[in-house]
Amino acid sequence: MSIRIGDTAPDFTAQTTEGTITFHEWLGDSWGVLFSHPKDFTPVCTTELGEAARLKPEFDKRNVKIIGLSVDPSDSHHKWAEDIAETQGHALNFPVIADADKKVSDLYEMIHPNASDTFTVRSVFVIGPDKKVKLTLTYPASTGRNFAEILRVIDSLQLTAKYSVATPVNWKDGDDVIIVPAVSDEAAKEKFPGGWKTIKPYLRVVPQPGK
Ligand code: BEZ
Repeated sequence: MSIRIGDTAPDFTAQTTEGTITFHEWLGDSWGVLFSHPKDFTPVCTTELGEAARLKPEFDKRNVKIIGLSVDPSDSHHKWAEDIAETQGHALNFPVIADADKKVSDLYEMIHPNASDTFTVRSVFVIGPDKKVKLTLTYPASTGRNFAEILRVIDSLQLTAKYSVATPVNWKDGDDVIIVPAVSDEAAKEKFPGGWKTIKPYLRVVPQPGK
């Protein structure tokens, strides 16, 4: 059965470019992003890993650990890392799982047999500090992901976790947010003493808390 939002992220022990890790222990109290790549030495993956390395400080700021995965062995990952640094201008600064036996890919159902029997699709799992899955994304091998969008979703998830707000269409950090329906007007008065705008009883807009 596929992994769904709210499920506990399966734990595993795996070889990575930074040694052996046990996933839950490695995550500790952090948020996590686990993302798969179809194969080493492929063009789209090379650009994605360079971009993830460039954005690593942004993930760090949000207390998010990132980890990639590809179904090739560690020595191949290390050779590929040289190309990533050379062509993308950013060296790998996070672990990449060497999933040659496809143990983790199978656990997270990253191989979609009608797409390919051997390579993973581009999966993304965002995992909260409670080890629950907060977001899943599945992209085809031919489409590189938008890591700025992954950061945007993490900003939204972290706001929800802290302030009981949701984020509207195309929201970005600093825009107004929505008070979740589960919060009554009474409770909202305490949470948002600066007030809010009621457009409809179910659509209450408030400046982004903490800004
Ligand atoms: C790539 O990463 O460039 C790629 C991998 C598999 C199929 C197509 C593209």
